Amino acid sequence: MQLKAPRGTYDILPPDSSKWQYIEGILKETAETFGYREIRTPIFEHTELFERGVGSSTDIVTKEMYTFKDKSLRSLTLRPENTASCVRALIEHSIYSGIMPAKWYYIGPMFRYDRPQTGRYRQFHQFGVEAFGSNSPYLDAEVIILLIEVLKRLGLKEYELHINSVGCMQCRDVYRQKLIEHITPVKDKLCPDCQTRYQQNPLRVLDCKEKSCHQAIVNYPTLSQHLCDDCASHYDVVKKGLKANSIDYRHDDNLVRGLDYYTNTAFEIHIPGIGAQSAVGGGGRYNGLVEDCGGPDLPGIGFAMGIERLLLAVDTLAKELDSGKSDVFITIMNDDYELQALELLTRLRQENIRAEKDYMGRSGRAQMKYADKLGARMVIIIGDDEIQQGYFTLRDMQSKEQVQIYKEEIIESVKDRLVKFRGGNG
Ligand code: HAM
Repeated sequence: MQLKAPRGTYDILPPDSSKWQYIEGILKETAETFGYREIRTPIFEHTELFERGVGSSTDIVTKEMYTFKDKSLRSLTLRPENTASCVRALIEHSIYSGIMPAKWYYIGPMFRYDRPQTGRYRQFHQFGVEAFGSNSPYLDAEVIILLIEVLKRLGLKEYELHINSVGCMQCRDVYRQKLIEHITPVKDKLCPDCQTRYQQNPLRVLDCKEKSCHQAIVNYPTLSQHLCDDCASHYDVVKKGLKANSIDYRHDDNLVRGLDYYTNTAFEIHIPGIGAQSAVGGGGRYNGLVEDCGGPDLPGIGFAMGIERLLLAVDTLAKELDSGKSDVFITIMNDDYELQALELLTRLRQENIRAEKDYMGRSGRAQMKYADKLGARMVIIIGDDEIQQGYFTLRDMQSKEQVQIYKEEIIESVKDRLVKFRGGNG
């Protein structure tokens, strides 16, 4: 049997890995500009963290977790998301007793057992931010502005921002009761999933993917009509913050998010052009989560974006990246010059010049072809004349011009030319 990567996982090979590096660079830089610092948490955690953190009635916990027992029979789970892990780390290291807000970002793999399709994988990657310790609606606005800034820096213009407020525990309890009363008479028309979950979690019916569920509950009472005064004014300030920053949004009564921890502001960003899995990011406030996980009563807000989905959106843009290209290729006309080539290669690389040579015993001609394939801008040729007379031949692969450069001056000469190349061609 030929071994293959497990279903829903994939390899990131060069040159595609350049696109990942490019996107990750922009994500990190943007987060840092906004004052967020990187956190790295373990890939697996105690299963209980996600059961308590993400919510025991969510799709993630009931159907999608990769849970296993280790050799000491502890139940562990590959992280399906990273908010719960950040909360665990915040509590474990008593970060809350330091300067607030604590602002973190992360990039890394997450794991969910779901049906794979374009934009949906079993191992996927998220970039996310979490800010703890402040309930200011201006911080909600900042987090959304950061999300939009990421899209702008990636050159993405066609996106839709959906926002809603899912209220606090108090106003949501009142609302849930109203919604259950609305749904109960039509419960038989709901999909099997919703029939079992509407009593415990009626909000889930609002974001169910089945059309029949939406038809069944038509004219349902909305959350925004049931917000308490504090939640309503919090939501108003968030919207004002977005308007002041010229960020267009759509209030969306159906947006309740699939995780249990949200309170107040909830948001999602969709890019319609990338297919059925159009949500490139989502997040919101989670003011009860830190306490639910055993910490103090500390508010939090954040979001996560799926990097695979971002890549689908920036694909055309990233195709133009040429970061995998070599600067210089060293061609030797004779095996005797292997050592000279290796030594020169090392000196070039010590100067941060992307340098390559042949390791397949190619002929001189074949080495030039290979240099072309690698996209080398220059080739340094080492042959008999060169060695006898103490110079190297430097060939410009674009103009095909060749010049002879003294051995001692080769590094400086290559550096000068690269500066000109980079200045001219970006
Ligand atoms: P989420 O909506 O479950 O939220 O995931 C955020 C993003 O991760 C989605 O919008 C999507 O782009 C990507 N994503 C989710 N599942 C998959 C998958 N199977 N394959 C590919 N991409 C996927 C969270 O995870 C929350 N922790 C976000 C958050 C942070 N809320 C507050 N802070």
